[in-house]
Amino acid sequence: MQILGIDVGGTGIKSALVETTTGELLSDRQRVVTPRPATPEAVAEVLDDLLRRHRWQGVVGMGFPSAIQHGVARTAANVDQAFIGLPIADYFSEKTGCRFFAANDADVAGMAEMRFGMGKGHSGVVLIVTIGTGLGTALFSNGHLLPNTELGHFFLENGQEAERYASETVRVTGNLGWEDWGARLNLYLTTMERLFWPDLIVLGGGVSDKLREFSPMLTTQTPVVAASFLNRAGVVGAALFAEESLRETEHGAG
Ligand code: BGC
Repeated sequence: MQILGIDVGGTGIKSALVETTTGELLSDRQRVVTPRPATPEAVAEVLDDLLRRHRWQGVVGMGFPSAIQHGVARTAANVDQAFIGLPIADYFSEKTGCRFFAANDADVAGMAEMRFGMGKGHSGVVLIVTIGTGLGTALFSNGHLLPNTELGHFFLENGQEAERYASETVRVTGNLGWEDWGARLNLYLTTMERLFWPDLIVLGGGVSDKLREFSPMLTTQTPVVAASFLNRAGVVGAALFAEESLRETEHGAG
């Protein structure tokens, strides 16, 4: 099935047409800067522009950087607070005229990694950490997702919130070298390891490409691998989520 996948991040909004049976991108990936402030209206305008660029009027899957409970955004760490309480898929469907399905960005990126990437066929517990403006997490057990784990907001033993200590934004704005930042990420990953005992940790986001640079700093017993989708997981996973939701709606209706 062909679905437009959109990955809304705190810094950029990416989109591409996805073939959900293979996870392949059928179009160029478009990227626009996330508006500031990222209010619902401002984001809707950007989405409208992306839909026009893709000449798309069909189903859209969206990964969004909030806990999304039954379609309603519950948090807004890196977007405008006006999103809290908003039924975001319904809102964007109404604004754009396309049918939207939305879920947490890290959860959908995780779905792509589990279906086509490093988590493929992996039983046991897999923790996926997406490293970007925020720290996103997706937790799978035997391929099943526990949705909306907001483990990037965990307070570490040094009293710091993980996302404000070890995200990509912190690395870049703090001008941290791989060693310093790697040590920070290590504190986060070893903490997560002690709490969840994963069998595999998959790192996503652009920085996962540089795993070789900071892996010497990682001391987890759990194997840590880079996501095979890198920055594409968000758009592919968003499309997979929409397909799954569509199937459930149709099944429910039938
Ligand atoms: C948000 C999460 C999101 C993550 C990555 C965090 O600030 O709370 O919902 O998955 O950033 O974008």
